[in-house]
Amino acid sequence: MTNTIHIDAGSGYDVLIGRDLLAQVGERTRRALPKTARIAVFTDTTVQPLYGDAVERSLREAGFETCCFVFPAGERSKNLATVGRFLDFMSEHRLTRRDAVLVLGGGVAGDMGGFAASIYLRGIPFVQVPTTLLAAVDSSVGGKTGVDTAYGKNLTGTFWQPSLVVCDTGTFDSLGVDQVLDGTAEIIKTAAIRDADLFERLEAGALKADPEAVIARCVEIKGEVVASDEKESGLRRILNFGHTLGHAIELKKDYGISHGRAVAIGMLLVTAATRKNGWTESGIYERLLSLISSSGFAVETDVPLEDLCEAARSDKKSEGDSIHIIYLQTIGSCADRTVRFDALYDFLKSE
Ligand code: GLY
Repeated sequence: MTNTIHIDAGSGYDVLIGRDLLAQVGERTRRALPKTARIAVFTDTTVQPLYGDAVERSLREAGFETCCFVFPAGERSKNLATVGRFLDFMSEHRLTRRDAVLVLGGGVAGDMGGFAASIYLRGIPFVQVPTTLLAAVDSSVGGKTGVDTAYGKNLTGTFWQPSLVVCDTGTFDSLGVDQVLDGTAEIIKTAAIRDADLFERLEAGALKADPEAVIARCVEIKGEVVASDEKESGLRRILNFGHTLGHAIELKKDYGISHGRAVAIGMLLVTAATRKNGWTESGIYERLLSLISSSGFAVETDVPLEDLCEAARSDKKSEGDSIHIIYLQTIGSCADRTVRFDALYDFLKSE
């Protein structure tokens, strides 16, 4: 069964979620982009050998001409140099405004390919085909694109919504443990901030029992948030629950910890603090801790709190001398308050 979620951002687009959808990518893209002639597939050295041929075949069967740009897999490639090479590649293949990009891969490919599509000829359409759980539940939906710079992750980018997202959950079969945990952390986050029923279903093992339904619900929630605040001036900030401290852990560990593992600890650190400060109902921290640890995450970090506070200062979501703290009031309901940097250590310090 294919789940279809409509996202009301940009010109509006569908997210399709189900098994064995790769073979339908061409036909689905044709419906979304009826006038497009040529598609530049943007993918990496891990994903291309697995799914590249199937996707290009499907596109050609639907009448598209294709060309394929493959970059070395990994965060190290996520920079302006790779984007520059892809822009030149599209020029060499004479892509016009009638043409489009199709991104096949995880978050790195999606962010970079979307960014390139948003600036090539001042913007051409793009299609996302996420092949990781993280990209499926988070980065492929909502239109955040970008690259890392020497100064930090995702510091250069645009908001540019895709025209279609096709998520074949069969592609997750090839993921490693950390990649599954990257997506799982976002799923737990989404349920915790917005949907008590989904959180209960996760506690009962829904992610293993019915992953498509869980992914579809997460995409639906993300779509609602993005539709009401596409450019992140308000509500969309709630999607950063656990992320400020998670990013601080990643930075202090020199990216030797995966994103999901860092975000899981970030969610716990902030919830322990807001419980202590009386902002979070009692019993909530314990439920979050139990779900996070039973999902396979470590629940502590050896990074000293002083270092985390210092790293949090460089977070791009900080505002002047304060930082936004997204916190759980209860399961399924969250809020946003600011804490001054000079008070952050005491705020986070355990009792
Ligand atoms: N990953 C958070 C957002 O898309 O806003």
